[in-house]
Amino acid sequence: MPGTSAAKEEGFLYNNWYVAGWGTDLAPGERVGRTFLNQPVVLFRTQSGEVSALEDRCCHRALPLSFGMVEGERIRCSYHGLEFNTQGKCEKIPAQDKVPSTACVRRYPLVERDSLMWIWMGEPALADETAIPAHPWHANPRFRWKSFHYDIQGNWELMIENLMDLSHLPYIHAQTIGGNPELHFGIKTNSTRDGDVVRVSRHMPNSEPPPTYKTAKGFTGKVDRWQEIEFMPVLIRINTGACDADTGAYEGKREHGFSMVGFHGITPETETTTHYFWSVATDALADGVPEKVFQQTADTFREDQEVLELQQLRISAEPDRPLLDIASDVGSRQARQVLRRLMKAEREPGMVAA
Ligand code: FES
Ligand SMILES: [Fe+2]
Repeated sequence: MPGTSAAKEEGFLYNNWYVAGWGTDLAPGERVGRTFLNQPVVLFRTQSGEVSALEDRCCHRALPLSFGMVEGERIRCSYHGLEFNTQGKCEKIPAQDKVPSTACVRRYPLVERDSLMWIWMGEPALADETAIPAHPWHANPRFRWKSFHYDIQGNWELMIENLMDLSHLPYIHAQTIGGNPELHFGIKTNSTRDGDVVRVSRHMPNSEPPPTYKTAKGFTGKVDRWQEIEFMPVLIRINTGACDADTGAYEGKREHGFSMVGFHGITPETETTTHYFWSVATDALADGVPEKVFQQTADTFREDQEVLELQQLRISAEPDRPLLDIASDVGSRQARQVLRRLMKAEREPGMVAA
């Protein structure tokens, strides 16, 4: 059956909250230029701690504002010194007394929450802060977590497909989270859809723990293992872990075991490049999470990065060639359907800012 996959690079979903970065990316007085959905944006934090996202293009002569400096509560263009407040309004032109009302740059709604910065790239009037997905693990004292930002030379939907189909684990991640390939054969993948949320789960009862799990928890015998994936536009949360076999993992008794909660914020940069903001939180050991667990996780996602970038090379060479879907694509196919429906809806006139 021919699949559409991400081969066609069918554009972006604009009216949606995307991860723009980690709160720790910006100390007071710092700024950074990033591109989201082909739009250049400057993110900055004022001296008082407020974060703002503006178009990264001065309205005077188009120099990127990220080339400038944060001055108090404003960002100053470094060419002729125009200063813009957090709303994108120019408040100072050094060479003249009056600032025309047209002196402004586009502001993007930006919200800092759960240690993440969320940006809205579509129609500002539609930005509803209550729709930002919560990620309480970043504030849960039982968990330790680390954050990462990878720049992927691949289309954003390839990343979604990768995370929604974990049947690649024993092949790509044999040395880390994958474990023995035979464990993965014959595991039933359940996929359900609830509105715009797609959930995929796989259970591996009475199985051999993979290397990362042994490192984290010191399992010696067989385990009941789970992989539970939740997609919503556009992030994926993956809850994986294991308990000693037959100790209640599948009835929800998991606190005595090992859990890892992965947060995967997938933000398109261009059609063929993606910001991948991810974190992993784990409740592994009472006396501290071995650094090796984080390192192995980081290595795991570098393995995925390599795969995506190789895929993109082939896809870019022949973008119109179809790809084949197989049974394990069920989750990514459902995620794609959600995205296609939302993208189609917002192409209706008046739904996306010009
Ligand atoms: S280009 Fe920004 S002040 Fe002139
Ligand atoms: Fe992977």
